[in-house]
Amino acid sequence: MPGSARAAAARGIARVIQGGSLNDFLPAILANVSEPADRSLVQEMVYGSLRYAPRLEFLISLLLERPVRKREPRIHALLMVGLYQLLYMRIPAHAAVAETVEAARLMKKPWAVGLTNAVLRRFQREQDALLERVDAHPVGGSAHPDWLLEILKADWPEDWPAIIAANNERPPMTLRVNRRHQSRDAYLAELEEAAIAATAHPFAADGIELEAALDVHQLPGFADGRVSVQDAAAQLAADLMQAEPGHRVLDACAAPGGKTAHLLERANYRRFVAVDRDETRLDRVAENLARLNLSAELVHGDAAKPDGWWDGEPFDRILVDAPCSATGVIRRHPDIKLLRRKKDIDSLAGLQARILDQLWPLLAPGGRLVYATCSVLARENAEQVANFIRRHDDAIAAPIAADCGRPSGFGRQILPGEAGMDGFFYSVLTRH
Ligand SMILES: C[S@@+](CC[C@H](N)C(=O)[O-])C[C@H]1O[C@@H](n2cnc3c(N)ncnc32)[C@H](O)[C@@H]1O
Repeated sequence: MPGSARAAAARGIARVIQGGSLNDFLPAILANVSEPADRSLVQEMVYGSLRYAPRLEFLISLLLERPVRKREPRIHALLMVGLYQLLYMRIPAHAAVAETVEAARLMKKPWAVGLTNAVLRRFQREQDALLERVDAHPVGGSAHPDWLLEILKADWPEDWPAIIAANNERPPMTLRVNRRHQSRDAYLAELEEAAIAATAHPFAADGIELEAALDVHQLPGFADGRVSVQDAAAQLAADLMQAEPGHRVLDACAAPGGKTAHLLERANYRRFVAVDRDETRLDRVAENLARLNLSAELVHGDAAKPDGWWDGEPFDRILVDAPCSATGVIRRHPDIKLLRRKKDIDSLAGLQARILDQLWPLLAPGGRLVYATCSVLARENAEQVANFIRRHDDAIAAPIAADCGRPSGFGRQILPGEAGMDGFFYSVLTRH
């Protein structure tokens, strides 16, 4: 039906404006779109509009005298979709405008039909002058919220423009080859046979970067667990853990289980406990492990309150892949630009500190704790670890032998886009 794809995209974006996370509801919205071609169109419009949301919203503020964001988030979202098409998609402008106006009609908001038409046509008429104003504004020009821009500039005085550019890009699709089944070279050969263009990742030993994203079910052996999708920076955790078969391993913030699975693909351990506070997400760990034919002790518990689930047996290896701002993975989760607030950073940093402090006594002397975040903010990374070491006399930061990223306090920071990777921070702490 004309307009239905735009209406579906606007519905998705409006949910984010109201505080929902894309991962939670986009699959249901897409499942409701009957044509496969329309599904990818909706996905592109949702992701793209969110990627440029602060820029599009700034533009809307120039085009509308009275904002509709609060009262009518769907119409606001539809204007974002309309402008996104005109600015970034190769859809003929007249078709983009007509379909978007049709979507307003489908939403049964007669007043919005005229408004949508007027806003999009005015944009077309005054495009150059409007974009000049948008580009001159920090939020409009960078497509990042002002509070985040401020922190990025303070934390990365030289690199912030590159971080912003990377956040606005589309990420590559990266695979993790399951070593239990075949070597990376053998799988690369299989991909070549299937005419899927791919290269070995320079830093992730099991990583393969695809030239173009595709449906996972087109990957040879996906259903049998021979390969998974995982960013290359996330794959570095398994190397840094240096976990061996005799070890008792704790993965304290495990869901959805990407790093859990990677570690388990590498070896069988004396014990492997995977904890997460979110029961629904813990189900995802179970599903992922089942596909890979792996198993672990799954525990629904709070990493900051181990008394509730720890049996007193110390761990030789602990992975704390902490809940964080996710400012290193904005390119994969562009809804972060709208969802995250400045005050979240303080509460996340507090939670990370509590988790670290509470788990430290669970580490056996001589053991190794890997602290990881997909954040680029010093508060959650270098500062967090420096404060931890100050609080714990028996903690020493071990050097990280890696060529990627850069030293950052007692750890290493990978910025988004470096060697195609997500932004990640790693620190390795040993207990004496
Ligand atoms: C960055 S994600 C982990 C990603 C996972 N390690 C992977 O590689 O797939 C952080 C996880 O921490 C969990 N989490 C948040 N607060 C927690 C807490 N207090 N205790 C345990 N898990 C927590 C979240 O539910 C989320 O699944």
